[in-house]
Amino acid sequence: MALLKTLSIVTLFALFVLISIGGYVSASGVGLTCPEWPLCPAGLVPMNEFLIEYFHRSIAATTGLLVIITMAFTLKSKTAPRGMKIASIIAGSAVVGQITLGALVIVERLHAILVTAHLGLGLVLFAMVLMIVLYSYGLLSPSHKRLSAIRDKGSGVVIEEEEHANVKIVNDSNS
Ligand code: HEM
Repeated sequence: MALLKTLSIVTLFALFVLISIGGYVSASGVGLTCPEWPLCPAGLVPMNEFLIEYFHRSIAATTGLLVIITMAFTLKSKTAPRGMKIASIIAGSAVVGQITLGALVIVERLHAILVTAHLGLGLVLFAMVLMIVLYSYGLLSPSHKRLSAIRDKGSGVVIEEEEHANVKIVNDSNS
């Protein structure tokens, strides 16, 4: 989990920067300064004329890779809870969808619906990576662990845990 902690927080930070740059690209109207896909007019060389959009694409490529690596490590981990694995699969799918959508935004010349979908999917992606971070830092725990915590607090009530968070009170020592 130590590696996943670092990896997921770095991915979340990269995603935050990317979404902020995306907002700037949109608000300042420089979305079509790189009118081609996948590379800008000067290939891999950044130029002043399209610097912001160039950064948006390069950081998107790096972040995409980070999300996929985070998903691979989460799925490989024996200790990662099921919710964390599901969040990582959604994040992996969302990042592939988001990069495809980014290409469509360019090809369709900033079609309003596509740009809106691009923003929405970006938010879903951010939420999923945030969940992975919370799980890896133990700030979000599987339901059976939450039930254990309730039991450990005492109060004389013994709670029997069942799979998928069904709670059965089997003994109330106060009665
Ligand atoms: C993980 C990948 C990506 C994320 C999270 C992301 C996120 C965003 C966000 C949040 C915006 C602002 C949307 C708005 O304010 O309405 C944006 C704008 C934009 N993105 Fe991305 N993006 C990603 C990848 C890409 C890629 C690969 C391209 C490809 C060229 C791209 C092209 C654009 C363009 C052109 C805009 C500006 C749209 C406009 O002018 O209204 N994005 N992006």
